[in-house]
Amino acid sequence: MSQYFRKFMAKFKGYVPGEQPEAGWIKLNTNENPYEPPASVINDLKNGLKDLRKYPDIDANEVKKQLAFNVRVNKESSLKMDSIVVGAGEDELLDLIFKTFIDKNDRVVFFSPSYGMYKVLCDIYDAVPVEIPLNPDFTIPEQKAISTPGKLMIFCSPNNPDGSRVPNDLIAKVCETFKGIVAVDEAYIDFAEDSALGLTTKYNNLIILRTFSKSYSMASLRIGYIVSLNRDIILGIRKVKQPYNVNMAAQVAALAALKHQSEVDETIKKVKNERNRLVGMLKQIPQIQVFPTESNFILIKIAVGNDETNQKINQKIFWELKKRKILVRTYPERPLYEFQRITVGKPEDDDKFVQVFKECLEIGLSG
Ligand SMILES: Cc1ncc(COP(=O)(O)O)c(C=O)c1O
Repeated sequence: MSQYFRKFMAKFKGYVPGEQPEAGWIKLNTNENPYEPPASVINDLKNGLKDLRKYPDIDANEVKKQLAFNVRVNKESSLKMDSIVVGAGEDELLDLIFKTFIDKNDRVVFFSPSYGMYKVLCDIYDAVPVEIPLNPDFTIPEQKAISTPGKLMIFCSPNNPDGSRVPNDLIAKVCETFKGIVAVDEAYIDFAEDSALGLTTKYNNLIILRTFSKSYSMASLRIGYIVSLNRDIILGIRKVKQPYNVNMAAQVAALAALKHQSEVDETIKKVKNERNRLVGMLKQIPQIQVFPTESNFILIKIAVGNDETNQKINQKIFWELKKRKILVRTYPERPLYEFQRITVGKPEDDDKFVQVFKECLEIGLSG
């Protein structure tokens, strides 16, 4: 069959998703929200699904209207509907950015390690991936960011997997010097202290991407949005998107969540408080290094001996956790093979995780 494929398929590995086991696991591997959406949202969703035989609104206008009402670009101005494109999650929106702006052999700049889809999309679109390694503390090497040319540069802020936010002054500097589109993936921004959204008023090559998958607890529904104050960018992306890209259930649920924003904010506050508590508990374990995070996940490094020892212990802990039905995220490749990424769960699950992690660490240390 493979003779029928496009050439890139010969080497293409595709995206490797985190495991999605059946119920009964403590699942801290894919950065989902541990809480369901508020009951009021579920209720609106149940009551709002009408006329299923009809296509959904092509532009998710009600969602855009409510976003324009809820979201402020900065102190002076609110978001305008014509600055938004709604998509089936950020993964679709990232795909749309490539579809709109990337020709074969265009250079796409991003930082490593980061979200795996950037490289996957480069492969699919025959773009040249220009991966700039992050500093060992996961900060961005500024000079490289400012001086590397390309057609598209993607920042992930807060960055998956470490959870650090990219400083706005760096994004601003890049917007001034970079000759292409600057996209900021803000999938986890509601757990962070600041956003790059305000910079869109100044830079017409800047695009912000956001999702309802994380802070709004709606990963299963697939909905997110793009913001740019550049009308041409919005019109271009809208032109290439599939007409009915966001299904009715996702539109109804997102609208409901935005209308019940204060209840969503309560959940976000709970997750942030729990993150800080979990960071505190993990910092008590002397054999690991805990990295600062502004997200709903925490990156830790096994720091017992040399790289090889750390990696072995890390793998052992992963499998021992798995035997006990606890899933975290580990990485098969450098520079992350001594690391684990732990999604913030409910307090009782996090307590259990920390207790079992310590037991598994002892097993790992004893060889
Ligand atoms: C950094 C980052 N961007 C985008 C996504 C995809 O988000 P969505 O569920 O909206 O497609 C993820 C999912 O884990 C992510 O970690």
